[in-house]
Amino acid sequence: MPRRVQLEGRPIVITGGGTGIGAATALACGKAGMPVVLAGRRIEPLHNICAQLDRGIAVQIDVTVGDHAHELLDAAEQAFGPPWAVFANAGHGLDRTAHGTTVAELREIFDVNFFATHLLLSEAAKRMIEHGRGGHLLASASCVSKFAPPYHGAYAATKAAQDLFCQAMRLELAPVGIHVSTVHPVTTITKFFDVSAELSGRDSGHSSIDHTPRFLQQSPERVAAAIIKCLQRPVPEVWTSRLVRMSAALRMLRPTLMDRSMKKMLEDDRLSGG
Ligand SMILES: NC(=O)c1ccc[n+]([C@@H]2O[C@H](COP(=O)([O-])OP(=O)(O)OC[C@H]3O[C@@H](n4cnc5c(N)ncnc54)[C@H](OP(=O)(O)O)[C@@H]3O)[C@@H](O)[C@H]2O)c1
Repeated sequence: MPRRVQLEGRPIVITGGGTGIGAATALACGKAGMPVVLAGRRIEPLHNICAQLDRGIAVQIDVTVGDHAHELLDAAEQAFGPPWAVFANAGHGLDRTAHGTTVAELREIFDVNFFATHLLLSEAAKRMIEHGRGGHLLASASCVSKFAPPYHGAYAATKAAQDLFCQAMRLELAPVGIHVSTVHPVTTITKFFDVSAELSGRDSGHSSIDHTPRFLQQSPERVAAAIIKCLQRPVPEVWTSRLVRMSAALRMLRPTLMDRSMKKMLEDDRLSGG
């Protein structure tokens, strides 16, 4: 078993840190004694979380604009010294058939979910290599990085891209003591589904969360607790549902089985006019 990392005093940067999984992770990291740098487009939610932290700063940034990675990492270094951990978590979904997704929509969602992750984690990796003290890079992927539900093809593609990119990074950076982990939450009760619905021009009351059985829904605090465990004892992938993880593995061997269970989601959506 790898040695337990003492988190006290080790700074972490979290994008999308003002709400949902990012905010819950920020608070859990703060509790563990980590100075926290929060980033997002809206300053108010960032300030709300900062107010609950002993050591936290808010950086208002759009991860798709300019070189957000330099700006954010510079701000972190100035406030707390070189970050130990960087969590690329900002992201959103899109409720759209694969054939109905436009190239412009694909580019936009890849910009936020994938290219911004690449930019931030690559720049963080270069700085960590230079400092020579190791570190931990994390990306908020999803369980759907391993399989695509209907109406979420574009979103799943961005998460699969994140997952594969991080797999390679993990192997490349292990020799210099930098851990790389992907986080694979199942349905987590956050604003994610409302934002997705809004971006997709759909009624938020008709959200994909409605198709998820209760036992597969979880709180952002549950994801945050799993992330803290991973920061303490790094693992390649953080999962919060053994059942979904096993289903993802089974899908590799028997794709038709997963397709059958997903069909129900499609039928429900048709019945409700989606
Ligand atoms: N909820 C789920 O079921 C679930 C499951 C698996 C994976 N995930 C992943 O978990 C991550 C966090 O999602 P969440 O569930 O916590 O939803 P959320 O509360 O909507 O969080 C998304 C965060 O990303 C930030 N963000 C979005 N676009 C941004 C941009 N261009 N620049 C900077 N920040 C941006 C948002 O802040 P601003 O709007 O203020 O910028 C917000 O704080 C996402 O990557 C999502 O794909 C979620």
